[in-house]
Amino acid sequence: MENFTHFIPTEYHFGKGAIDCLGECLSRFGQNVLLTYGGGSIKRSGLYDKIIDICKSASLNVTELPGVEPNPQIKTVRKGIALCKSESIDVILSVGGGSTIDCSKAIAAGCFYNGDPWDMVLAGGNQGGKSLPLVDVMTLAATGSEFDPDAVISNEETNQKLDGKYCCPNVSICDPTFTFSVPANQTAAGSADIMSHICEQYFSRVFDSDLSEAIGEGILKSVIKNLPKALANPSDYSARANLMWDSSVACSGIPAYGKIPTNWPCHAMEHELSGFYNITHGVGLAILTPRWMRFILKKDPTVTPRFVQFARNVWGLDSDDDAALAREGIEALEDFFASVNLPSTLTELGIGDEHFGDMADDIEQVSGGLEGDYVPLTKEDIVNIYKDCL
Ligand code: NZQ
Ligand code: ZN
Repeated sequence: MENFTHFIPTEYHFGKGAIDCLGECLSRFGQNVLLTYGGGSIKRSGLYDKIIDICKSASLNVTELPGVEPNPQIKTVRKGIALCKSESIDVILSVGGGSTIDCSKAIAAGCFYNGDPWDMVLAGGNQGGKSLPLVDVMTLAATGSEFDPDAVISNEETNQKLDGKYCCPNVSICDPTFTFSVPANQTAAGSADIMSHICEQYFSRVFDSDLSEAIGEGILKSVIKNLPKALANPSDYSARANLMWDSSVACSGIPAYGKIPTNWPCHAMEHELSGFYNITHGVGLAILTPRWMRFILKKDPTVTPRFVQFARNVWGLDSDDDAALAREGIEALEDFFASVNLPSTLTELGIGDEHFGDMADDIEQVSGGLEGDYVPLTKEDIVNIYKDCL
């Protein structure tokens, strides 16, 4: 088992009515609040009105930054930083999915960055450790941004989308009832993201970190059980609650404790896809993950025991033929994604092979490539995985 350091200082409130503490939580940091949100889902669900009422009751001054895009753009981060400075903002209140929270993290850190915030993104995130306080109300089970320091910021001018470390939220409020309104396609894509977060950490060479293994397998089984329930009945509290907690833990780093870190290869490849084509993150992952699995299993059969464990412990499959069982586990994942109507090819999304070489080049330039990964991938391998997705 490998060494690790645990550091997630977020105060985490989970469950029905968790929002009751919002006024008090915000007031701890000051009176001037920047409220960030996306394209309007919080207005349609009534959450916006509830938030404004809470802020009024707590005598807070609210400045708004609406319109944070899915795959949040650096131009919106710039806008948010300018508002924080002009309105003397004390605390950011981010209400929405991972995109809104990620954008808010970059704003929070960007307020203390000397220079253009895109340079901060290129440098890997927060450079000085300082950031404005951030409180979030999470409305979508997917990224785990409510319980980690990461943010992923895009630049439509350069087709880049880069992950970095900015700040953990000071307070996260996760009420599963706020996810009842998430449409089926985003519910499924978010769940594919949760599963990918586990797969990126589970497929590692260390087998003896028992708790991490069990957490990873438990989260995968929970998504397999609860996603179909949430799709069948979007207001199924138990299903939505399980998905929400799965999402927070999956990307927190905890499922990787004691294991050799990987380069999160499917995320590296997916961020290129959504950087170039602005697709939904979880959809890209649902297409890439089974292809990546088949590719590495073929390239390096020494990983077979890991896939056998995945097939047995996650999907409940069994066979005396390890090679066949390994393949069946991958098929089970692919069939599950198909059963929840996730697209299974890039062709369905209108994506062709024209940028695959550029994307593989970018992965090398941005993160040093994937040659040091669980199964090392060359640029040619990456292009071939993309081609397998067509
Ligand atoms: O913009 P609004 O109107 O709010 O609508 C959003 C958006 O259209 C909608 N939505 C969110 N909550 C809803 C809702 N619709 C109805 N009811 C609700 N309760 O869903 C759509 C997608 O929202 P978005 O925030 O983009 O989705 P998600 O949470 O999946 O975030 C994706 C972004 O996070 C990054 C991704 O790359 C992508 O940019 N990631 C962030 C990570 C992190 N911070 O740790 C890790 C992840 O691996 C990921 O890369
Ligand atoms: Zn992800």
